[in-house]
Amino acid sequence: METNLHRFCIAPMMDWSDRHCRYFWRLLSRHARLYTEMITSAALVHGNHQRLLDHHPAEHPLAVQLGGSEAAELAAAAKICERAGYDEINLNVGCPSERVQSGAFGACLMHEPETVANGVKAMREAVDIPVTIKCRLGVDDNDSYQALCDFVGINRDAGCKVFIVHARKAWLKGLSPKQNREVPPLNYPRVFQLKKDFPELQIVLNGGLQSLQACQSALDKLDGVMLGREAYHNPFLLAGVDGELFDEKQLQLNRVQVATMFVDYIERELKRGTRLNHMTRHVLGLFNGEPNARKWRRYLSENAYKPGAGIEVYLNALQLQQGNHARQAKLSCS
Ligand SMILES: Cc1cc2nc3c(=O)[nH]c(=O)nc-3n(C[C@H](O)[C@H](O)[C@H](O)COP(=O)(O)O)c2cc1C
Repeated sequence: METNLHRFCIAPMMDWSDRHCRYFWRLLSRHARLYTEMITSAALVHGNHQRLLDHHPAEHPLAVQLGGSEAAELAAAAKICERAGYDEINLNVGCPSERVQSGAFGACLMHEPETVANGVKAMREAVDIPVTIKCRLGVDDNDSYQALCDFVGINRDAGCKVFIVHARKAWLKGLSPKQNREVPPLNYPRVFQLKKDFPELQIVLNGGLQSLQACQSALDKLDGVMLGREAYHNPFLLAGVDGELFDEKQLQLNRVQVATMFVDYIERELKRGTRLNHMTRHVLGLFNGEPNARKWRRYLSENAYKPGAGIEVYLNALQLQQGNHARQAKLSCS
């Protein structure tokens, strides 16, 4: 089956989609396209880009999300990312946080389609990998369908072929970023219409998707879907992605196997000096809906942050989840 590269994506999420989390997600799906947290072009050009772009080879296909608005700086940052091995540059035109607005990028750029297009053009000239955009339906009162089409049209002409659309507008004043992910209503029909009017583009739907069934019905009309919060809070949903959304034999994984597969990674990272809770905070939702899910979450939350916490904390949590108190007691005394 011919599939496009963006059929199933996991959203860029600050503080959440870091390299540990992405490695964990990759254990659950070979095909999901993963996105980094947003990194500003200024931080890459002026800062320690090696640390910011660090990732494991297993994470591919992997896109980096940039925040910025200055064309030359975006182009320089995109080059650095391409050299670091990323598969795609995604520009953030959807984040409404105050901090981002004061840097004049993120969602407020929906007011400035030409600025975005200049950035896209400069990045396209600088790199060979795809340059894509993640945007909203609109911002503030600039939320007509025509304004969205103008934004998409000018950026298509600049060379962007993939638009990931968070299917709600953003209010730049008065709502927190969290509220801006919940309060403005979702409007999927507008995204479906966009695909009808721009059939040559890849249009990816984001916002409020909570099941693979919902993804499948969106995929009947669109090229791809992107999940954010549901993938983070209920990661085992990802175990069905390859089988249900791609023409792939399903990996017959259960949750304990997934948790066990993460052990090697944790041990390697502990040796590199990574704190245990920086990894385990991303797996708290793995057993949601299963017996002892709370014990797993609680044990990890109460112990993994402690200085010197090692792999035994993770293994204890797993034993507790499986209801094996005897082994847990033995391990915690040793
Ligand atoms: C904790 C958190 C951090 C986020 N950070 C980013 C970000 O860095 N860049 C971005 O484009 N969107 C960011 N988002 C928005 C998500 O990418 C996504 O558009 C939004 O959550 C809607 O999708 P969902 O309903 O599937 O969660 C963030 C969302 C959350 C929950």
